[in-house]
Amino acid sequence: MDYLTVAFAKGRLGEQSAELFNKIGIGHCLDLKSRKLVFIDEENKIKFMLLKNSDVVTYVDNGVADIGIVGMDMLKESRSDVYQLYNLPFGYCNMSIAGMKGAEVDRNKSILRVATKFTNSAKEYFESRGQKIEIIKLNGSVELAPVLGLSDVIVDIVETGNTLRANGLEVMEEMFEINPLIIANRIGYKFKMKQIDGIIEKIRNLEEA
Ligand code: PRP
Ligand code: MG
Repeated sequence: MDYLTVAFAKGRLGEQSAELFNKIGIGHCLDLKSRKLVFIDEENKIKFMLLKNSDVVTYVDNGVADIGIVGMDMLKESRSDVYQLYNLPFGYCNMSIAGMKGAEVDRNKSILRVATKFTNSAKEYFESRGQKIEIIKLNGSVELAPVLGLSDVIVDIVETGNTLRANGLEVMEEMFEINPLIIANRIGYKFKMKQIDGIIEKIRNLEEA
């Protein structure tokens, strides 16, 4: 039997995914505290790859990984045509527009300056509303942009809302819900359907138990 290759994101999502897989008897080889990036589960014939969150879709899209676990935020941003197989039962949050608390940002100004990591999602959202924007692409600490006058608003993930609150910002609008999901390469899925569906079935049973 061929190895099933699974792309995992480093960080919190990877930890939650590993915990879930362990519960269904898979991936006990995973040691996320080590510096290793590949782990092999010989018993279940699975090869795990530990990647940066933003690279999981690329690996699955190119078929280097058969399946991957990734947030809807990254999937939407990539506009990639992978199978969306299963929504996982943790880590729900929102992609939101936020601005300085009480600042009454003029949302209809001729060109709204939007700072974000998620440029495609932001463009698509504002375009569909006929609002012209200037995108300011940042790679992190996006909340600082309106505080320092770099942008009028931000588009970013809000989970607990702590980062917004700590920096004097508030949600102006929730754009869409984000959850982690299992994605699959379209060709890889055809060849390894039985193994992939078996894993999903075990996760579903666990949820229903
Ligand atoms: C993420 C996200 C928000 C924050 C949301 O940032 O970009 O800033 O977490 O979580 P909260 O609502 O629970 O505060 P992250 O910590 O990944 O850092 P970065 O944006 O600087 O990469
Ligand atoms: Mg952040």
